[in-house]
Amino acid sequence: MSAPLLTEIDHIAIAVFDLDSALAWYSSVLGAEVVHREVVESDGVEEALFRVAQSYIQLLTPTGAGSPVRRFLERKGEGLHHVGYRVTDCAEALAAFKAAGCKLIDEVPRPGSRGTTVGFVHPKGAFGTLIELVEEPSQAAF
Ligand code: CO
Repeated sequence: MSAPLLTEIDHIAIAVFDLDSALAWYSSVLGAEVVHREVVESDGVEEALFRVAQSYIQLLTPTGAGSPVRRFLERKGEGLHHVGYRVTDCAEALAAFKAAGCKLIDEVPRPGSRGTTVGFVHPKGAFGTLIELVEEPSQAAF
């Protein structure tokens, strides 16, 4: 199995306690405009995306008590949560990480926000960074 083809940084995800105050800050300080906002019930999060060139900054906040992002915030506070790499084939990319001995959070790809297909690689064995592999929907603008 060859190394996964990473085609772009898809998004940098930042965990915040209060999505609306973070949005207000990003909007007033960075002039950022939200291009997408979505509650992802299966992940227990609400997210908002800003475009930066061909990538996104994703602000993430927990929606429920059992949300992994809530546990992250309680343990580490606000800040960088994960890096999403864009790939052409999520299943193939997950298999390449597994073949390299990495611990996968998702053994098989699953639906992400915006109609994407995603899979997560555990930060243990990846130098402490939670990695998300993002396959864009085939109709994507880029
Ligand atoms: Co993500």
